[in-house]
Amino acid sequence: MNIVLMGLPGAGKGTQADRIVEKYDIPHISTGDMFRAAIKDGTELGLKAKSFMDNGALVPDEVTIGIVRERLSKEDCKEGFLLDGFPRTVPQAEALESLLADLGKGIEHVVNIQVEQDELIARLTGRWICRECGTAYHTVFNPPQVAGLCDKDGTELYQREDDKPETVTKRLEVNMKQTQPLLDFYESKSVLTNINGQQDIQQVFADIDALLKGGRG
Ligand code: AP5
Repeated sequence: MNIVLMGLPGAGKGTQADRIVEKYDIPHISTGDMFRAAIKDGTELGLKAKSFMDNGALVPDEVTIGIVRERLSKEDCKEGFLLDGFPRTVPQAEALESLLADLGKGIEHVVNIQVEQDELIARLTGRWICRECGTAYHTVFNPPQVAGLCDKDGTELYQREDDKPETVTKRLEVNMKQTQPLLDFYESKSVLTNINGQQDIQQVFADIDALLKGGRG
């Protein structure tokens, strides 16, 4: 099963991706996570990506497409994958299409999680993330059992650099501009499903799961 998960920053892509990959046993490919890991490791890719990310801008298509191409060619993607945060522009979607065609594959589902802007701002500015495993919490909507610590491994939680209020506004602007043409692209291919992301986390997952189960025939 090859799935693309779309949604504006804070829509809950990462939160739902964790649940989907656990249930369907496919690799979670998040371009944002890959860039953050590269920044942490101080690699050339990290150096390239950092200034764009810190400003709430998109990393250039050629860089992003390159890392996805490399990742999708790995053995663990043979039986399926979940792309989270890629594609984010029409050129990225076109590159993905041609890359998958070369591998004899296609996309079964594009799941778009829809959430209003005010809610997105509240979610991003209250988000805290585990330094070790990357699990996202929210001070109000999804708090950890012990404040400041991850439920899974007890590691300290931190706030992402790009979750500062001024950067959040810029990220939303940049992503909104790119999103509609991308939705039109996938709508025209009849693979797009919109999911109401303003329900609680379990209900959003139940809706996505029902869609994916149906898709398995
Ligand atoms: P990326 O890491 O992909 O970030 P994003 O798209 O901005 O999305 P987020 O991770 O911020 O949010 P999310 O939708 O995963 O929400 P989450 O589940 O955490 O990208 C970061 C940057 O990398 C980009 O700005 C860009 O620079 C670069 N980049 C990445 N991909 C790129 C690409 N393809 N091309 C170019 N550049 C690229 O949830 C948010 C919060 O809400 C959490 O606190 C969570 O607990 C809470 N929450 C989740 N669901 C619910 C719910 N149903 N109800 C209440 N609270 C909820």
